[in-house]
Amino acid sequence: MKMWDGRFQESTDALVEEFNASIGFDYKLAQYDIQGSMAHAKMLAKCGIITTEDSQKIIKGLEEILAEVEAGEFEFTVELEDIHMNIEKRLTDKIGAVGGKLHTARSRNDQVALDVRLYLRDQIEQIKGLVKQLQEVLLELAEENIDIIMPGYTHLQRAQPIRLAHHLLAYQQKLKRDYDRLVDCYKRVNILPLGSGALAGTKFPIDREFVAKELGFAGVSQNSLDAVSDRDFVIEFLAAASTMMMHLSRFSEELIIWTSSEFDFVEISDSFCTGSSIMPQKKNPDIPELIRGKTGRVYGNLMQLLVTMKGLPLAYNKDMQEDKEGLFDTVDTVKKSLEIFARMMAKTKFKADKMKASTEGGFVNATDVADYLVDKDIPFREAHEIVGKSVFYCIEHNKKLSELTMEEWQGFSEVFSDDIYHAIAIETCVDARNTIGGPARAEIERVIKQEKEALN
Ligand code: ARG
Repeated sequence: MKMWDGRFQESTDALVEEFNASIGFDYKLAQYDIQGSMAHAKMLAKCGIITTEDSQKIIKGLEEILAEVEAGEFEFTVELEDIHMNIEKRLTDKIGAVGGKLHTARSRNDQVALDVRLYLRDQIEQIKGLVKQLQEVLLELAEENIDIIMPGYTHLQRAQPIRLAHHLLAYQQKLKRDYDRLVDCYKRVNILPLGSGALAGTKFPIDREFVAKELGFAGVSQNSLDAVSDRDFVIEFLAAASTMMMHLSRFSEELIIWTSSEFDFVEISDSFCTGSSIMPQKKNPDIPELIRGKTGRVYGNLMQLLVTMKGLPLAYNKDMQEDKEGLFDTVDTVKKSLEIFARMMAKTKFKADKMKASTEGGFVNATDVADYLVDKDIPFREAHEIVGKSVFYCIEHNKKLSELTMEEWQGFSEVFSDDIYHAIAIETCVDARNTIGGPARAEIERVIKQEKEALN
């Protein structure tokens, strides 16, 4: 028996039944479907559309079903196609024909839109918690490792010296924006679509504001056709998730590079690495590699839904059933990635001496020599030229800038005097950059304090 059997002469093809069904994945919406139905049933009675007695029977039945779902005892069947019909059928089995009154003034089209919104609201809250947690780990690490000086890079070439804490805080800032994107996306998820019916609302005197209040929605959708055809809220979430994964992926990429013997800046804990089946010496950074890899999968889910939606006429089309697997997959992937990344970072050891040693080569203090000349009233462009020549000289003579004698300095410009050595000492170079957002110790300390306060 199908819900639409009245109109049909032939039964559904067995392959079609399987192909058409979404229960294989939308069973994940069970608790939200029940939550939404309870609020709907309550509203139907409040508005006099069904009796209070019927409403109470329905709600009691739904409560029992929820307990079955939570206990893992609910049996989902493909013949009943999706989560909505699985639950409704169970309800009528339990409480009889009165269960059939639940779907009054409702369609699966506004029902599914509601379920996905309830699900996503819940998930966004959880993901926000995980983003915060990772930020906390980074702030802790920044604080603990404030003394570590390392090269900052552009084009992956050593550029200027910074603090490791500065690098960690860069990711904390990116994650902070990721968090804000979730907060922003939530605002548009948090709108009630129920009451839009199949596409054109309903004749029944429903109270949408009441349902919104019951379910904690901040507002009610203002166009029924829009509400059942809209999946922007999913796309927006997938875009926010993709951006966040892009950040984790860049960080992962750096960790992978940093663990190579060529860099040797960090030691990822054994519990986050694997060995090789053939090469006994190997310790591979699988976890950052996997997070980098899973980023592609999350982008794929965003692309898939954008492409699915691009040609759809209003309002609901079955294509839209394809919105769920990618969403669920993204939610699971992002949650696991954030959690594992935080745990991995908390156990990662940074090699202060290696990082510091790396700032000794690569002329990372060349800009500081130019700035020194500017202080002595030489125009910056001229200073740049003079330092370029001194760097070239150093390369030719296999020297560091700090190893040039006063005589050699004077050869490039007579304004050089003994204070040059202090001016280009690596610590000086870092701590002199004390503008807002710079790598100087005092500034890093200020930002850590500010961001910790903001998190609490
Ligand atoms: N399983 C469907 C989905 O996920 C529910 C909505 C079905 N609506 C319909 N008119 N067939 O999109």
